[in-house]
Amino acid sequence: MVPRMSASNERFADTARRGRRIGHAVEVHASIGSTNDRARELLGSPAGEGTAVVAEEQSRGRGRRGRTWVSPPGRNLTMSVGLRPRLGAIDAWQLGLAAGLAARSACAAVAPVWLKWPNDVVASDGRKLGGLLVETAIDGEALTEAVIGIGINVNWAVAEMPEEFAATATSLSALAGSEVDRVALLERLLGALEAEVERIESGDSPLDRYRDACRTIGASVAVDLGSHQVRGLATGIDDHGALQVRTADGLVTVATGEVVHARAEVGA
Ligand code: BTN
Repeated sequence: MVPRMSASNERFADTARRGRRIGHAVEVHASIGSTNDRARELLGSPAGEGTAVVAEEQSRGRGRRGRTWVSPPGRNLTMSVGLRPRLGAIDAWQLGLAAGLAARSACAAVAPVWLKWPNDVVASDGRKLGGLLVETAIDGEALTEAVIGIGINVNWAVAEMPEEFAATATSLSALAGSEVDRVALLERLLGALEAEVERIESGDSPLDRYRDACRTIGASVAVDLGSHQVRGLATGIDDHGALQVRTADGLVTVATGEVVHARAEVGA
């Protein structure tokens, strides 16, 4: 396989736009531990807020709930940005929804994609092609820092994926049937993320748009909470972004967790 490292490294950096809050600078790494860690470090320097950190390879890429984020070098998009959002701690949950909507809109130019609660990017058949890791620092009622990390499978052929992902994962190129321009995808992602963050900061709730984008509603689900699973019909998203599940024992509201199984109900 031909490595595509250096040319795309240079082109990722070309997406920087002076004056923009998110992506006024783009820092590109051939290899790094985790882009989320670097974006958090950058928040300690004056121009660090909003610098997009992109890596061709992460040696310690992490996902939600302590998982590792696996992405082969030179194929995909792994990006983080550190922010000091103008939001109270009570509204920090909105960032995950906003970032999910931004990732979906950046991908939508290539293929129709959806969100799986809380914020996986999935294809119409439920296969995952992207994930988000939002890490926040809170001081009392203030949200002091947030790092938004986004990983999208772009030009990763399903045949090249490790066996454990091949049945449940996909990529934009697999959906489009051709190679996808990662630089153009980054450009759209930075613009969409800035727009979504500014919308929530101005008090415009992402909930209705998130509900429209979320494929989990109406599906029969099993949600892993670590200690146990909640099984039932996902009936909605409440006003704090939590998943509502109608179980045999009544309505259960799940604030954090992982939908490990989702099957569309007939007619849903
Ligand atoms: C998940 O689905 O579990 C979330 C995956 C988040 C992966 C991205 S890749 C860029 C950023 N850096 C990391 O270490 N993780 C996030």
